[in-house]
Amino acid sequence: MTAIAIDRARLLSEIEALATISDAAAPAVTRIVFTPTDLKARAWLKALCDEAGLAVRHDAIGNIFARWIGSDPSAPVVGTGSHIDAIPNAGKYDGVVGVLGGLEAIRALRQSGFRPRNSIELLMFTSEEPTRFGIGCLGSRLLSGTFTPDTARKLTDKDGSALEDVRRSAGLGGELETVVLPSNYYKAFVELHIEQGPILERQQIPLGVVTKIAAPASLRVALEGAGGHAGGVLMPDRRDALCAAAELILTVENAARTSGAVDTVATVGICHVFPAAVNSIPSRVRLSVDIRDTDLARRDAVMAALETAWRSISTKRQVAIHSELVNADAPADCAPAVIEALSQSCKKHEQKFLSMVSRAYHDSLFLARIAPVAMLFIPCHNGYSHRPDEYASPEDVARGTLVLAETLATLSA
Ligand code: GLV
Ligand code: MN
Ligand code: MN
Repeated sequence: MTAIAIDRARLLSEIEALATISDAAAPAVTRIVFTPTDLKARAWLKALCDEAGLAVRHDAIGNIFARWIGSDPSAPVVGTGSHIDAIPNAGKYDGVVGVLGGLEAIRALRQSGFRPRNSIELLMFTSEEPTRFGIGCLGSRLLSGTFTPDTARKLTDKDGSALEDVRRSAGLGGELETVVLPSNYYKAFVELHIEQGPILERQQIPLGVVTKIAAPASLRVALEGAGGHAGGVLMPDRRDALCAAAELILTVENAARTSGAVDTVATVGICHVFPAAVNSIPSRVRLSVDIRDTDLARRDAVMAALETAWRSISTKRQVAIHSELVNADAPADCAPAVIEALSQSCKKHEQKFLSMVSRAYHDSLFLARIAPVAMLFIPCHNGYSHRPDEYASPEDVARGTLVLAETLATLSA
């Protein structure tokens, strides 16, 4: 085996090419699951995997697997990958670095003359982002058995289209029951990703080895007050749903700020107002609430405190507040053996690394339920992510890909 050589120019040109398959004008990227744009990106990725000589298949939810068959084809698989869907007005690196970096790592290993014992498999997960169906990590929830097919079949998008119909129109046959993987499928899984926070860049450390993934939860909240004429209804008579929502949003911010730990974060990212007319009192509001913490008990305590605060806002303003839990997932600990393989690969290539927590969620959160998992982070400029100016330098992308390749070699030897 010769030294592993990452073809940086090829990898970067593929990242740029994928960014052009987008529903937003550059530099923004929008690629929502099962839209024509997403389907085009999937076809493009499959063609690249074919070209690389990998055995490509997809499952009923559209997770794409591209396998380099090892010398012991029946041995558990060493996996890598991430997602290529992108939230509205996103950047070009979130998820993409893990998919195209994973592919490049496999190509570089082949080129080096390395022959794996365990098959090495690239995995592109369907809908890591929650944009269309309201809940993230659809592919990995089903693969890991976290989500039952029945739960998935109940999902609809904002136009009322059922996931089941949407995936079938996208050409995905078969039943969702077939998606779940056996618990001995993986020997290990490693996800390469941009950090999506500022720590690596601030500390000038080029790599992060993730030891834990924080616990995400989200809620849908509906507020129902009374509408009316903006001139005619006097202030004492109002039951303004948006004013109640404003108070509610501040309880969310305050709960995270005062939890006692910087690890609690909370966001209201969606706010729909009805009827949304200048001269009409808002009668209905729909919000999303996203709450995360590295500590499960503290996150759940924050959620319970919010429900209490919302009851008092509801009573005071005579606005009905109904909240529906979308997901409340446990955190995941990464596997010591995979952390060790990543750490040794960093050392072999004389790269400093930081052991760190992932505050963003990833498909690895769910794969950790059926496989030994760890993640490798590269810095992103200013920690920007989920915005068009998300940026990871070519050096960092290539470095992360090299260490990923080395780790896949170690795990599959
Ligand atoms: C993933 O995109 C997340 O919101 O953490
Ligand atoms: Mn994302
Ligand atoms: Mn991501």
